[in-house]
Amino acid sequence: MMLQSILNTSYVRELKECLRLMLRDTKSLLSKTKYYNAQSELAQEGLVIKRAFLSGRKLSSLQSFVGEILSDKYHSNSLEIVDRGKKFGQDPNMIDVFGLENDAKFKKKFTRLVNDVQSFCQSNSERVGPVQNINIYFTRSANDPRCLHSDSISNQYKAFIYLTDVSSLENGPYCFVKKSHKASFRRILSFLMNFLIRSNLYDRWFLGARSKYALLGTPGDLILSDQAGAHGAHPQSNNGCRILVMFNFGTIKINSQEA
Ligand SMILES: [Fe+2]
Repeated sequence: MMLQSILNTSYVRELKECLRLMLRDTKSLLSKTKYYNAQSELAQEGLVIKRAFLSGRKLSSLQSFVGEILSDKYHSNSLEIVDRGKKFGQDPNMIDVFGLENDAKFKKKFTRLVNDVQSFCQSNSERVGPVQNINIYFTRSANDPRCLHSDSISNQYKAFIYLTDVSSLENGPYCFVKKSHKASFRRILSFLMNFLIRSNLYDRWFLGARSKYALLGTPGDLILSDQAGAHGAHPQSNNGCRILVMFNFGTIKINSQEA
């Protein structure tokens, strides 16, 4: 009975899934057929960057709409503004605005933008599904962000468009560990360590700072990231600020050997 309850914990379920993915990837490596094609950058690195995806009036229009929301000049029942630092204790000084995808004014002004983001991201992988939700992330003086972590064990895709200048570390750029989205021995080790110290299952704290890429950027840059990879924000200075729009995609399951 006790063994049964241990086997049913989320830790063990996720560990089993990780082992399954490792087996799949090992089979792929041993296979004579390789599926390395134009879509491989996201699959191989876990990350794609498109500089100046937005510019000119399209960019300034999105910046001013987001500015209205954050400065409390625009109100909508579709939007929920959450101070994540207070609610979850994980991301101090972070405001998360939920529900843009349901907001009438956003849909009227930015449906074409959402379609463009979706088309671009889907052109990078057949696993990227339709946009599910759109949020605003606003962080200020966040000098102690959550450690490197994954959002899930299997592929999950998000795109981020910077709306403010993040060309210095002081403003807390998004960080990513390339290739860390793949199932690996290190990942299993991470699960086991988290299980032993009863930490958050998805934390990847043992990876260390050396393998972390800080994705510096300017307004309009787009980052497409596989959230199964280790990621997090760089600590901001006391005057640091970063605003971005996040697009969360559904994932399409493909029975191919592409990792
Ligand atoms: Fe995350």
